[in-house]
Amino acid sequence: MSNIPQHVAIIMDGNGRWAQKKNMPRTQGHREGTKNLVRIMEEFSKHGVKFVTLFAFSTENWSRPSNEINSLILLLREALNQEINELNNKNIKLCHIGSLDKLDLDTRQLIDNCIADTKRNSGLTLTIAFDYGGRAEIVDAIKSMIRDKVHHNNVDEELVEKYLYTTDLPDPDLVIRTAGEMRISNFLLWQSAYTEYYSTTTLWPDFDEKEVKVALNEYSNRFRKYGSVS
Ligand code: FPP
Repeated sequence: MSNIPQHVAIIMDGNGRWAQKKNMPRTQGHREGTKNLVRIMEEFSKHGVKFVTLFAFSTENWSRPSNEINSLILLLREALNQEINELNNKNIKLCHIGSLDKLDLDTRQLIDNCIADTKRNSGLTLTIAFDYGGRAEIVDAIKSMIRDKVHHNNVDEELVEKYLYTTDLPDPDLVIRTAGEMRISNFLLWQSAYTEYYSTTTLWPDFDEKEVKVALNEYSNRFRKYGSVS
């Protein structure tokens, strides 16, 4: 492929529908959706993608039933405990965007430790958006600027970007959304101003290496104009 996105961000949708179709609890859909994560990261990396950001839990997901919330937190913990060695073997650097404030101390420490353990890896950067919302991120950035007494004359796009959670990440080139919806759902609102969108009807637990290739192929045929003319 001639044109590979540097940064791919993914809205992993359809876990609940996948489970319902199989008469399983919704939480089983989330579990299935976690199993293929490392393989999918490897496939992106193989094609030259440098950054992948996964939307694992939104600020709005706190309104889900408590058993589903607990199950998502447990899955995150399990995935980190089980895959930390694999992330290091594969030279993957782990990052987090969002808020850790509502998580219990053990989970916060686990996330912090995994980030510290992988911070020197130079391969793919895998960012987990957990308790993340694009609007909350912008509100947090504004609060921090006010706290830092930034003068309004000094506020420009470059400065705002320094205050976002994603300050160390390039903007996503491609957002993939599974399960067929055509919504942004409060994901990377600022950063996706010129991002290419790709939606597939495949439910997240069925998304695999073949689907990665289809999405990358579609992206490679896009022509990005950034508001200019061809
Ligand atoms: C949306 O599907 C998916 C989520 C809210 C959670 C995604 C989380 C995972 C795949 C597992 C945890 C992630 C990591 C990184 C360990 P949905 O439940 O809204 O599906 P539906 O629209 O079909 O109901």
